[in-house]
Order: sequence, then structure tokens, then C-alpha cells
Amino acid sequence: MHDDDLMALSKKFDAMLEVSDDPAALENLRLFLLGKKGELTALLKTLSAMEPDERRAFGQKANEFKNYAENKLDEARRQNDAKQIENALGLEKIDVTRPGRRRPVGRKHPLTQVLGEMKDLFVGMGFTIEEGPEIEKDYYNFEALNIPANHPVKDIQDTFYIDGQFVLRTHTSPVQVRVMEKRKPPIRIIAPGAVYRADDWDATHSPMFHQLEGMLIDKNITFGDLKGMLIFFAKKLLGEDVGVRFRPSFFPFTEPSAEMDVACYSCGGGGRGCRVCKESGWVELLGCGMIHPNVLSMSGIDPAEYTGWAFGMGPGRITTARFNIPDTRLLFENDMQFLNQFNRP
Ligand code: DAH
Repeated sequence: MHDDDLMALSKKFDAMLEVSDDPAALENLRLFLLGKKGELTALLKTLSAMEPDERRAFGQKANEFKNYAENKLDEARRQNDAKQIENALGLEKIDVTRPGRRRPVGRKHPLTQVLGEMKDLFVGMGFTIEEGPEIEKDYYNFEALNIPANHPVKDIQDTFYIDGQFVLRTHTSPVQVRVMEKRKPPIRIIAPGAVYRADDWDATHSPMFHQLEGMLIDKNITFGDLKGMLIFFAKKLLGEDVGVRFRPSFFPFTEPSAEMDVACYSCGGGGRGCRVCKESGWVELLGCGMIHPNVLSMSGIDPAEYTGWAFGMGPGRITTARFNIPDTRLLFENDMQFLNQFNRP
């Protein structure tokens, strides 16, 4: 009778083992057979009630089965572990033949490249870089620069007014005033940055563009110093043999005032049929002059003791010239296909 039970249990165990293919199922099977309330545990408990001969014979078979089952469970567990590791390795395998991921390398915008060169040149001569707010007080943008209330540049058509007191700065010149107010000469600064005018959006205009302002104040500074510095700058930027000329001009904040032209970088100064210089042979590069005594004294610097020069130029112009860009708008449209042509990192 017990032998039959053992036989049936053994068959049942084999069948269950067959379908137990994960650690939890194997543990359940062990408990079913060998746990405190397990089937084999129950059979073994009946041993004590048996006759000695029967007990010996059945006990031996039951123990053999117990060993058999334990070995089978161990083996199944090991196989299971190995299978799991194999699966994990299969999932984590690295295919070294796959093509790598491309990460595009960033480049400097052409305007940033040119601005960087300009900054380097002046920093190399001991100038420091100053910044001012793009939302500027009317006072700094106009009044402190000797631009009276009825001056045409203050017209609503040129200037973005925020309210009666604030404007989007129309030039970088207000940085001159901010620096003069807080520092004593000698002063040597440049101030690059964005400026805004209510201009049309066409091939040579955009309502936001860039300027680079320069200013030097010390004792005995003359127009000769200004010319020398600007000629040096033009040569470094556009080549040693670039032609340069100064023309008299007018700015309310300088006296005397001038504009500096360079020989056209497109036609080399020949002019004929050139669209860049409109056949004049010259391209206007910047406005400059000796700082007006009113401007110095309004900002707390004694014009009897100090003189100084200033200039303002548009790096956008030099950028379009340098890279032969026919339309300023291309600098601000952020078209990557266009910008990627300028391959300097
Ligand atoms: N601020 C002038 C403009 O936007 C340019 C300029 C002219 C700046 C003469 C200067 C200067 O510092 O001295 O047109």
C-alpha cells in the first residue's frame, strides 16, 4: 500500500518538475514534497507505526526517493540560474559592428567669429570689455551724449521707445557714459553688443544689429592717436595693405567727428561695376571723433584736464564683407545649412 503511494508520488513529482521552469515554481514543488506539510514528509511520518521489517524496506525506498527528489530539484535550480544568466548576457550583448552615434560639433556663428577677432585685438592693446543694458535710459542713450530732445535720431521712426524714460538702445555709445560716470581716466574700453532701430528688414538693414564701441580717455590724447589706432585696427582686420581714408562728419557727442572708410574689399578699390561699394571704391567702416567737452563734463570728467577719442562700428558689415554674404538677414535667420558653411570652429 505505501509502496504504491510512493510510486504515485514519484510520478507526480517527475511530471511537476517537467513544468516547473522558474525559481518560484521549483520552490513550490519542494514545499509540496518536502515541506513541513509536504506529501513525502507525511509518508515518512507513517514509518513509526510500521512493523520493523516493513519500516526498514519502506524507509529505504522513501529515503532514496527523497535523495532523488532533492538532487533533481538542485539540478533544476542550477539549470534555471544558468539559463537566466545566459538570457541576461544575450540581452546585454554589445554589437561592436554597429555604426557609432554621431554628435554634431558646434561652431561659432560668423558674426561671433568676427566680433571675437575684434575683441582680441583691443584686449591685446590693454582695452577692457564693458557691457551696458540693451534696455537703456533715454538719458544715457541720448541726453548724456549731447543729443538734444529735438534731434532727428530721437524720432519715433528710428527709436523703439518703451516709455518716456526707457528705450531699446540705438547704439553702444551710452556705455561710454556709464563708464565715464564710474571711473577716473586713464580709461580704455570697448563695448560690443546688440542695438535696435525701427529700421526695415531688408538686405542691408535689420531692426536688431551689432555695434562695437571704443573709447580712450587720458591726458594729451589727440586726433592723431585716434587715427593711428584705427589704421592699425583696419590693417590687422582686413590686411596690411588695406587703403584707409578719413572724412569729416558730424556726431553730437564728438568734436571734431569723422567717418573712416576702407578701400572696398570686394573690388579692391577699383570700383567699376562693384555693388558692395556702389562703384565708389570705398566702404564706410565706422564713425569716430574726439569726445565732445560737454559729454566729458556731463559725466564728471574735466575737459580741461583730459581728452579722449571714441569710435563706433558695425561688426555685421565686416562679417558680410569678409564672408561674401549678400544679405544681412542671413546672419539672423539661424538657418543651419547656411551657417555650417563657415567652418571655423
Ligand atoms: N553711435 C554712432 C552711431 O550709432 C556711431 C559712433 C560715431 C560712435 C562716433 C562713436 C563715435 O563713439 O565717436 O551711428
